[in-house]
Amino acid sequence: MAVPFYDHALLYRRHKPVIDAAILRVLESGRLDWGPEVPAFEAEFAAFVGAPHAVSANSGTAALKVALLALGIGRGDAVITVANTDIASLSAIRLVGATPILVDVDPVSLTMDLDAMRAAITPAVKAVLPVDLYGHPAELPAILEVAARHGLAVIEDACLALGASIDGRRVGTLAHVTCFSFAPTKHLGSIGSGGACVTADAALAERMQKIAAYGQARSRHMAGAAQTMLHHETEGLNERLDELQAAVLRAKLPQVPDSLAARRRQAGLYARALAGSAAEPPQPSPRVEHAFRNYVVHLDDRDGVRARLAARGIPTALSYAPPLHLHPAFADLGLGRGSFPVSERSGDRLMGLPIGPHLTDDQVMEVANAVVEEAGR
Ligand SMILES: Cc1ncc(COP(=O)(O)O)c(C=O)c1O
Repeated sequence: MAVPFYDHALLYRRHKPVIDAAILRVLESGRLDWGPEVPAFEAEFAAFVGAPHAVSANSGTAALKVALLALGIGRGDAVITVANTDIASLSAIRLVGATPILVDVDPVSLTMDLDAMRAAITPAVKAVLPVDLYGHPAELPAILEVAARHGLAVIEDACLALGASIDGRRVGTLAHVTCFSFAPTKHLGSIGSGGACVTADAALAERMQKIAAYGQARSRHMAGAAQTMLHHETEGLNERLDELQAAVLRAKLPQVPDSLAARRRQAGLYARALAGSAAEPPQPSPRVEHAFRNYVVHLDDRDGVRARLAARGIPTALSYAPPLHLHPAFADLGLGRGSFPVSERSGDRLMGLPIGPHLTDDQVMEVANAVVEEAGR
């Protein structure tokens, strides 16, 4: 029987009453713009991650861009990030006019290598943008320490890591600004697109909010017809979350703990079933609580095994492979094969397996057993 990689319809049916009620609430209110849902969602999301401020955006990509702009990062500045990530982490840096400096990752956590980061610091570097790949937090405590010594901002790309923690500290409470994605396949999925930046810095939050909303204070928009004149305090974009998405996200936020628990239980099932097979399970550091947005194994005959699994109705994914420096979009960086051996080896061998609250434990075991059969011991 085919196992779905994602199943949005199933998850919708499971939570239909609260999602339908949220959508109807917005439609019947007639407030499709500048209504109460966005600020309410921001307050609830900030409380959920334990951060003082949340500023919503219309995607994780937009959240990264808004964070960089609000930190004043642009032309002439450099930002350190990794190559084994979503295009958004790197494109956000380039699209604000800054220069990315790519570094390799730790072979076990697959997150930013600390020594490589230290070695990449130059006077032009203004920020570090570590990525919590697959839901495994980057080495934030040490990254923040190094950054503090060099006066660098830390923008954490936690688009895959809602609910993760390191050393008992929750993602969203560590970096200067942490960015999340609410794409439908994420831990907290919208019915379209969404994202958010969280921070403890009130002034930064205010700047991000203005940049994401035409350079105006939200209070002016909320005033509706009472607002007399436009008043753009800064350069502004329209990178806002909309009322409908905010209402749906509010309805779904209370489900995140259960869905995280399901992901962690499934990861445990996979780890036990795959132990000793040719498909190497991830090895999260004992210091972290992994959010398992992705469950990614590594194996030598990746392409052969993937094809045989597909023939059995088992979908797999090339989760962020190959690394970005090997894509045509970034050819101008002049970083060919051999630039980042750990990221490249991972990209050659990785295979993402289905995981998430839409799956039963039986389906996870069906996948795990098929992987062991096809990959061998
Ligand atoms: C690591 C990472 N950063 C950023 C993003 C961008 O998020 P969005 O798709 O909401 O723009 C993604 C999306 O998958 C991601 O995986």
